[in-house]
Amino acid sequence: MAKLTVSDLDLKGKKVLMRVDFNVPIKDGVIGNDNRIVAALPTIKYVSEHGGKAILLSHLGRIKKEEDKPGLSMRPVAERLSNLLNKPVTFVPTTEGKQLEDAIDGLSDGDVLVMENTRYEDVKDGEYVKRESGNDPELGKYWASLGDVFVNDAFGTAHRSHASNVGIASNMGQTAAGFLMEKEIKFIGGAVDNPEHPFVAILGGAKVSDKIGVIDNLLAKADKILIGGGMTYTFYAAKGMKIGNSLVEKDKIDLAKEILDKAGDKLVLPTDSVVAEKFDNDAAHKTVEGDIPDGYMALDIGPKSVAEFEDVLKSAKTVVWNGPMGVFEMSNYAEGTLEIGKFLGTLTEAKTIVGGGDSTAAVQQLGVADKLSHISTGGGASLEYLEGKTLPGIAAISDK
Ligand code: 3PG
Repeated sequence: MAKLTVSDLDLKGKKVLMRVDFNVPIKDGVIGNDNRIVAALPTIKYVSEHGGKAILLSHLGRIKKEEDKPGLSMRPVAERLSNLLNKPVTFVPTTEGKQLEDAIDGLSDGDVLVMENTRYEDVKDGEYVKRESGNDPELGKYWASLGDVFVNDAFGTAHRSHASNVGIASNMGQTAAGFLMEKEIKFIGGAVDNPEHPFVAILGGAKVSDKIGVIDNLLAKADKILIGGGMTYTFYAAKGMKIGNSLVEKDKIDLAKEILDKAGDKLVLPTDSVVAEKFDNDAAHKTVEGDIPDGYMALDIGPKSVAEFEDVLKSAKTVVWNGPMGVFEMSNYAEGTLEIGKFLGTLTEAKTIVGGGDSTAAVQQLGVADKLSHISTGGGASLEYLEGKTLPGIAAISDK
């Protein structure tokens, strides 16, 4: 059933609690990548333009001791949001109490407020009490009491059952999805539940163990699964091929065999690889077909595999891509990932959905991100969604 969304709500004059996922990379107060803040702007602007008082809650990083707090304050995020919205944003350096309540009472229609990192609640008086990430019922109830309505736009956190998403929702009559959440559900949920065929998944990354749940779930739904990245060589080992010094998960070889048996020709492995003598961008490297020679490690898929993958992709109507094809951070082994990203940008007839840090970085670096249907803001959340799991943050949003 369709979910209630922010556009179904009457916002005028309301205190609108909004869970966003502003868990952005941050170092010494400097934000490395503001994609997640930018992705939440449509909902924040909508709430503000419709006369709501937006009260934003998000976690940032993981807080296990008092010393973790100063480096993970939401203040720089509130400042970036203010720049992006081009209007003042009130930052409240606390997560509960009079200062916060007074600041909320002082808001005018259309104002935006950001409270301190919700995970500050995980440590109280030096003790790791996990009030936020353990979904303390009193905390969810308290936060819910601060607003009139609740909008959850934090897809990146949807796989967590925390006080600031599920806890608040269970204390509000209704919870609405924000526009970002709605889009993530439409594209990722749509691909998993009701894909247009041919449906092709491209899965990369270092480990079979990270993607096994996704492979398992998508084997039943996709027409082809293209495998790249380090996990390829655990599959090579399972086939009895030589892998040289390539990455391998020895304890997953039997599992890889089972997958290969079950998948038949649905699972497509790279037929050639870029191999190097060392895990080093400047190491001597070459392209080989099939077996990886002794003394070499495979660090990228080769050009023949790229062409074979493109041949499968060209007729696809739905494509989901998660995970790099090689060691994307080293320029000599980034080609496979970049070529796949470039090709996806040409598939104008297909729904193209990208998730995961390196795949997203590749399409952004190539400037093709706006040619794709959807770039997910979820890491763990998008993987668990692709695994077919029920995400508690989504389950807690009301049906229309
Ligand atoms: C993420 O970045 O995956 C989400 O923001 C959730 O963060 P967490 O893994 O620290 O719960």
